[in-house]
Amino acid sequence: MKTNEIFMNEAYDLALKGWGSNGLEPLQGCLIVENGIVVSSAWTADGSGDSAIIKACEKLGRKLDHGGKLFTTLEPVSRVYSNGSEVDAIHDLNVTQVIFGSPYPDSQYRGSALKNLKFLKVKTIGGVLKNLCLDLNLIHNYWKINNAPLIAAKVATTLDGKIATRTGKSKWITGEQARLDVMKWRQFFPGIAIGAKTLLEDNPSLTIRNKNGQDLGCPYRFIFDGSLSSVHEENLRSLNLFSDPFKHKTIVVTLNHAEKSKFKLLKQHAISYWVFQSDENNQVPFNEFINKCFQQKISGVLFEGGAKLIASLLEMKAIQYLYSYRAPKIFGDDQALGAFVGRECLSVNQAIELEAVHHEFFGKDQMIRGFVKYP
Ligand SMILES: NC(=O)c1ccc[n+]([C@@H]2O[C@H](COP(=O)([O-])OP(=O)(O)OC[C@H]3O[C@@H](n4cnc5c(N)ncnc54)[C@H](OP(=O)(O)O)[C@@H]3O)[C@@H](O)[C@H]2O)c1
Repeated sequence: MKTNEIFMNEAYDLALKGWGSNGLEPLQGCLIVENGIVVSSAWTADGSGDSAIIKACEKLGRKLDHGGKLFTTLEPVSRVYSNGSEVDAIHDLNVTQVIFGSPYPDSQYRGSALKNLKFLKVKTIGGVLKNLCLDLNLIHNYWKINNAPLIAAKVATTLDGKIATRTGKSKWITGEQARLDVMKWRQFFPGIAIGAKTLLEDNPSLTIRNKNGQDLGCPYRFIFDGSLSSVHEENLRSLNLFSDPFKHKTIVVTLNHAEKSKFKLLKQHAISYWVFQSDENNQVPFNEFINKCFQQKISGVLFEGGAKLIASLLEMKAIQYLYSYRAPKIFGDDQALGAFVGRECLSVNQAIELEAVHHEFFGKDQMIRGFVKYP
């Protein structure tokens, strides 16, 4: 017999289908189970503001004569959705048990439907695969609570904290399983960012790919390039981010003093760019970049390096969440590129720390992730 965890896992997979089309709604998957069999399902999509729970109930188009279970990755709430009320839909269908994964992020609504469901004699069980379901909406929840995009960084390092050799080689510090986990997280971020040197050294594609390397989709791809050093005719023709089928999702983030002729080249190649006035360090002012993401409703950006970009983010205290993958390898070379550089740290108290930390293992590699707390 299938357990609640197995059904919740299926609901999680459904929720993932909504990636990219959920707009600013939380990712949510929902299953209706009658006599141990899934009879209806739905997920959040189209940014329509529709509830996946109500969609799944409506899709079934009949009552559950002898009751049934409803699995949802996200707690039902008494909020009025564009397609109605979740409590009414659950009650009308004759659902006898609601099993949910994570609590609703917004405290205004959290718990609101549970009381009503109890009153209607619908049993509720919460917290099934809670952490997995919370991960689905890490970005959404941050956006809801802070009214700002979640700025996260990912690094893959050796045991001695290096992200590339002194010659700039970083493929591959971590193994395949760790890299697949990065793919999972990319699915949750509407934007990914890299520095100009990473673009030139690695020529990444920053798409979402499955195990077989097949493209599943593409987030916005930001290239931080203050002086437009990566913008040359040849690069625009050959580098993936400038020439692949998703090139319309590439945005070069640059400064107003970059060469005018390079802006012209970008235009000719139909590559978008965002121009900022440089800050006192001759960098893109991150607060303005974050504001622009907010205005464009980009709820999260994952910065994937390199060292210079991550260092400037840290200096501005702009990184709020960190994914650090660590391989059991040592370069032992002072001139290899360090992951976190440029700070002056005179006492342990001045260290940047992680909070709400998760430790996970991927083959031989270890991953530590959590919210960044600045001293
Ligand atoms: N293992 C890993 O996780 C990992 C991940 C990514 C990359 N890497 C490796 O890291 C190396 C590249 O790192 P890197 O430190 O040399 O270079 P980088 O950070 O990729 O790129 C540096 C360039 O990005 C631009 N930039 C960075 N921050 C900026 C800001 N705030 N505003 C405007 N422009 C900004 C600068 O352009 P301007 O100078 O024109 O202003 C700078 O020259 C490569 O070898 C790559 O393989 C490793």
